[in-house]
Amino acid sequence: MEKKSISEQHKPLYVAAKAAADNAYAPYSKFRVGAALKCSNGDVVAGCNVENASFGLTICAERNAIAAAVAQGKQQFDSIVVYTPLQSLVAPCGACRQVIAEFMPPEGEVVLTNDEGLSQRWTVADLLPAAFTPASLKEK
Ligand code: THU
Repeated sequence: MEKKSISEQHKPLYVAAKAAADNAYAPYSKFRVGAALKCSNGDVVAGCNVENASFGLTICAERNAIAAAVAQGKQQFDSIVVYTPLQSLVAPCGACRQVIAEFMPPEGEVVLTNDEGLSQRWTVADLLPAAFTPASLKEK
């Protein structure tokens, strides 16, 4: 997938994801992640990873952003920008892909960004093909 500089459209999401990453609670991995959602009403909601001394209880930035948005009554998102203060572009883990697929359409945008202002755009379906979604439960 092509790497480009961050588009004007994604800059506010990038800024929000970066600010959230600054607030990450990652004393164990030291791996900070920020994620910012563009909600269907235009609002931006961000989240960061929150680790725990009981390591398995760690929650990723993407899922925290989605939980924060849902708590604000927002359940439809056009895009999610993921930021890590690294050179590499880090993609959401498998658990986050599943949660993203719950709330975003297959054509929804997942934009990976880094500290150098680079971005890489994927769709939800690129990252989780043949997803199990709310629609899968309808045919019983
Ligand atoms: N992490 C995220 O926040 N998002 C991902 O998609 C992958 C991993 C966090 C969890 C943990 O705090 C740290 O990165 C290292 O795994």
